[in-house]
Amino acid sequence: AWSLTPLSLPPSRPPGAPQPVPAPVRPAAAPAFRRPPAHPSGERPPAIPAAHLPTHVAVIMDGNGRWAQQRGLPRHEGHRAGARAVREVVHGALEMGLRHLTLYTFSTENWSRDREEVDAILGLLRDEVADNHFRDLDVHMRWHGRAGRLPTDLADLLQLRERTTRGRTGLTLTMCIDYGGRDEITRTAAALARRARAGQLDPDRITDEDFARHLPHPDMPDVDLLWRTGNEQRTSNFLPWHSAYAELHFTPGLWPDTDRRDLWQAVTAYTGRQRRLGAESPNPLPL
Ligand code: FPP
Repeated sequence: AWSLTPLSLPPSRPPGAPQPVPAPVRPAAAPAFRRPPAHPSGERPPAIPAAHLPTHVAVIMDGNGRWAQQRGLPRHEGHRAGARAVREVVHGALEMGLRHLTLYTFSTENWSRDREEVDAILGLLRDEVADNHFRDLDVHMRWHGRAGRLPTDLADLLQLRERTTRGRTGLTLTMCIDYGGRDEITRTAAALARRARAGQLDPDRITDEDFARHLPHPDMPDVDLLWRTGNEQRTSNFLPWHSAYAELHFTPGLWPDTDRRDLWQAVTAYTGRQRRLGAESPNPLPL
């Protein structure tokens, strides 16, 4: 190919002529992202300085089934309405400037539901991910969960979204699908055991940091705020390693009725908490 390419040389310069100034190299333009659509009420997020925001908010989206039941609808309609709430809350997270939002979307235990409901949830997820609602927004999408049990087309789509949004630095949206906290910890322990067997780690010297480095997503930050809707007060095998010091927030509303203002309220409540992380109270109460 090179032998067929005509050589183009710069024109010869007379001696003493000034050196040509090279054209400035312009940095590649950053992709322009759309702003999320505003809430229909026109409400804006509370003005919380970035340093006071939780870095990582994790959500257990509970109440889809009850929402449908209350309306005499099949359960999958509750999940469909739940997907609308997801879009709404992602818009609110972007408006507020959150960095990490992680959603408990389908747990390792959810396989035990009726085949029909499982198929409906997985089908809905496939449609949502295929529709690519966040394509113009500064959202990096990720999937956290077991590989190998999801339908291949869904797994492929999730991996495609992850690859094509990798450079985005606004909000990291992690969808936990076929995720279980004990499964995550067991897989991490297995990874450590393999390294120890290979003589690369001394089992007597394994630290918290070693463990965290072997998690399936070692770069996922600790959860600051764990929010569950649906009037239940449990954490249900969701991110047990990352939530060790999370502030817990339980709300009575059902997930499909949730909108971005509920997220803003949850974060505002979080900013009023005193996080001591095991240290003494900075403001001890008078006796
Ligand atoms: C829990 O409610 C919800 C689920 C198991 C499914 C969550 C899925 C979605 C919100 C759909 C779309 C998600 C994304 C990320 C696009 P439940 O069925 O246990 O409710 P119940 O406690 O009232 O029965």
